[in-house]
Amino acid sequence: MDSFGALLPRLVTEVPGPGSRALASRLRRVESRNVTFLADDFPVFWEEARGANVRDADGNVFVDLTGAFGVALLGHGPPEVVDAVARQSRRLIHGMGDVHPPSAKVRLLEALVALLPWPDGRVILGTSGSEAVEAALKTARLASGRPGVVAFEGGYHGLTVGSLAVTARTTFRKPVLERLYPGVAHLPFPREEGVPGAADHNRPDAVLEALDHRLARGTDDGPVGTLIIEPIQARGGVRILPRDFGRALTERARAHGVVVVADEIYTGLGRCGAVLASPEVGLDPDVVCLGKVLGGGLPLSACVAPRRIMDAWPPSGGEALHTSTFLGHPLACAAGEAVLARVAGDLPERAEAVGAALMRGLTARLADAVAAERVDVRGRGLLVGVELLDEHGSGRPGAGVAAAQRLLERGFLALPAGDTGAVLELSPPAVLTSAQVDAAVDAVAEAVSGVGA
Ligand SMILES: Cc1ncc(COP(=O)(O)O)c(C=O)c1O
Repeated sequence: MDSFGALLPRLVTEVPGPGSRALASRLRRVESRNVTFLADDFPVFWEEARGANVRDADGNVFVDLTGAFGVALLGHGPPEVVDAVARQSRRLIHGMGDVHPPSAKVRLLEALVALLPWPDGRVILGTSGSEAVEAALKTARLASGRPGVVAFEGGYHGLTVGSLAVTARTTFRKPVLERLYPGVAHLPFPREEGVPGAADHNRPDAVLEALDHRLARGTDDGPVGTLIIEPIQARGGVRILPRDFGRALTERARAHGVVVVADEIYTGLGRCGAVLASPEVGLDPDVVCLGKVLGGGLPLSACVAPRRIMDAWPPSGGEALHTSTFLGHPLACAAGEAVLARVAGDLPERAEAVGAALMRGLTARLADAVAAERVDVRGRGLLVGVELLDEHGSGRPGAGVAAAQRLLERGFLALPAGDTGAVLELSPPAVLTSAQVDAAVDAVAEAVSGVGA
């Protein structure tokens, strides 16, 4: 019999059950109202998680197709991370990251640099993805000597004010629009002919023309020194950068002395079947941002660049110019070291294999809807998007949200993605069993057809 972690869904109450509902009404009284979406049928409150399973406050067992925002690629509570954190917690829970650093930080950074393309790589650690993005933007500003930034529509880089300036979605930006710094130009994310949402303005050659124009003219705050891009937009709707575009973009950036920052916070460290997703889409970045998978469930992120870029920062004269209280946190570093050992091992291949099985199942089960252009299924490794389309081939607003809700009611956790919520985003743990993959395929196909595809 399968144990918790490898189970299929087991619902013992309605979803959400009375336990989750009671927690929702307590939360409503103490949390700022914008943070957690609370409704009669949402959310479930988590009590326990292992492998690909989550148990909620009512004892319902779910299969997690989100990886909890893409973090749990090794599964929830991976034994090697649990052990590393337990060992570390008996010795040193908190250190002084940039003053008297924990030895765990050195081991983590050595493991990280050994995995990345730059033998002379240098790292700035952080605790969240947004922080890694901010470190990268500062680094690129220093290295290029120029203030302007090019980012892309649909891009998600975080919600702290510094990272929000490059995140594209208007709903996130609007409440603090006048606080966001100038000098950021958003270009359309290139869409090849035949993919959903393809239009004249986002044809790869049209976007390259817009990029040329930007590089020549600069931004409202001066010349462009930084370009930030996700090799695959994850929260933007699992939109994959066309490879020729990635190559052309890298070439143009090099020619203009622009620092290319690849935001691989979602895509990196095995998620898409390789240590980095950038090479696959033709990108050759100067700076890479990592997070999510890195901490194995603990908050940990990193901005990594070769020395030629990172040494734009002056040596520390005793006061770091970019640091924080929890930088190099010993528990997170110990967890990260355990994760990186797996990333250097079989994790990317495992993500590739499980992702291929998931993709095969979905394309077979949804073949009619795909042929009728009501659905588009795409992805790399274990980052998969199922987009629900209208009669014009554009994403159907809210359809991914509705499909995710149907999945929840059947015991599968999934998230919507894309600016209008037209995409169902799947980024499950690589420990999904084949029975869980098959059940997920059935459930996703049912949810997608249940919302009219
Ligand atoms: C590509 C990308 N960059 C940055 C972030 C922000 O990371 P965090 O939420 O940890 O600040 C995210 C989060 O989803 C992301 O997907």
